[in-house]
Amino acid sequence: MFEGLEQIAADAILGLMAAFRADPDKHKVDLGVGVYRNDHGDTPVLGAVRRAEEALIAEQTTKTYVGPAGNPLFNAEMEKLVFGPAHAALKAGRVKTVQTPGGCGALRLGADLIRLSAPGSVVHVSDPTWANHVPLLSGAGLKLERYPYFDPATGGVQFGAMLGALEKLPPRAVVLLHASCHNPTGADLSQEQWREVLALVRRRQLLPFIDMAYQGLGDGLEPDCFPIRLFCAELPEVVCAVSCSKNFGLYRERVGALHVLTQDAKSADAVGSQLVKLGRGMWSMPPDHGAEIVRRILADHTLRHLWEEEVGAMRRRIQHLRHDFVAQLKNHCPQHDFGFIERQKGMFSFLGVTTPQVHTLRSAHHIYMTDDSRINIAGLRNQNLEYVATAVAQVLKG
Ligand code: LMR
Repeated sequence: MFEGLEQIAADAILGLMAAFRADPDKHKVDLGVGVYRNDHGDTPVLGAVRRAEEALIAEQTTKTYVGPAGNPLFNAEMEKLVFGPAHAALKAGRVKTVQTPGGCGALRLGADLIRLSAPGSVVHVSDPTWANHVPLLSGAGLKLERYPYFDPATGGVQFGAMLGALEKLPPRAVVLLHASCHNPTGADLSQEQWREVLALVRRRQLLPFIDMAYQGLGDGLEPDCFPIRLFCAELPEVVCAVSCSKNFGLYRERVGALHVLTQDAKSADAVGSQLVKLGRGMWSMPPDHGAEIVRRILADHTLRHLWEEEVGAMRRRIQHLRHDFVAQLKNHCPQHDFGFIERQKGMFSFLGVTTPQVHTLRSAHHIYMTDDSRINIAGLRNQNLEYVATAVAQVLKG
């Protein structure tokens, strides 16, 4: 049966992890996969996570099933974290939340819900978007199209072109938006621009599908939720996929949630029942361990405070790295303007070098990034900023 299958290349992002691990060079720098690293190059377990996990292990009395929607207390905490505890949509019972295996599970479940409700739907994604959006959404049977987004000339968003393209979409078209820390560009919309997108989405009757994988790593835990809170206050229906991988450092535990806003509480209950059925057909029930850690952190005043401090420290470190890296690049490549890196948000930026130059950075300097020159800023370290900037200067000279 399987003899016709061809060997295919490793995933563009995950393949780099393996290549980096296999590289014995002591100067190697991993700017590939989107994982937060400290200045020692480590991704430690957060203090709040460690403490919540210790308590969980000490107190847990059973490993029996939780249920297909996951941990209901986790779902309730996630709603408060993402929407704010007083959000009108929560009070009206219009939000249905299901725990998912990571943000990927949430994206896939949201896509399946859309296909179930409106088969043949097209999802319009930003150009560019996170590479894994493509298999996740198209694997659910949705078609994908792209709207203009990133402007390489400025390192910002081509906002006029983006609005122009969205303006032409038919009613009920699905628009995938990155709430904050756009992956892969780091180019985010301002609050004013989000308001303009909201007005357009409402006028054109589009369905926003918002992906938030980096809450807290852009402008802060609250401001990073701005588009979700705004859209869910003003629109009848919104789909939101949320990940706890980065902001809780729970990558391998696969913790995420899908929040679906519906017109009324009755539709929310119907959607909830469908989500549970769809999830049952894919993973039956989401894994509990990481979600219970998140629940304990969010529900406990001391742990939550510690976690908020830790997220703040990650965010500030990324912001400092952006600043210091731009300063190093300015020193070593004065003829190029890399100032956009400092204006961008979250983990990623495009360095803006060509694919052959990316390959030279990898082969000659042991610096790893995806072929489109996306770099994980959090993979930089104070000790190697100059090394990376010098290498970039060398490849730019040719
Ligand atoms: C990334 O974009 O590098 C991360 O979201 C990790 C992944 O799964 O691709």
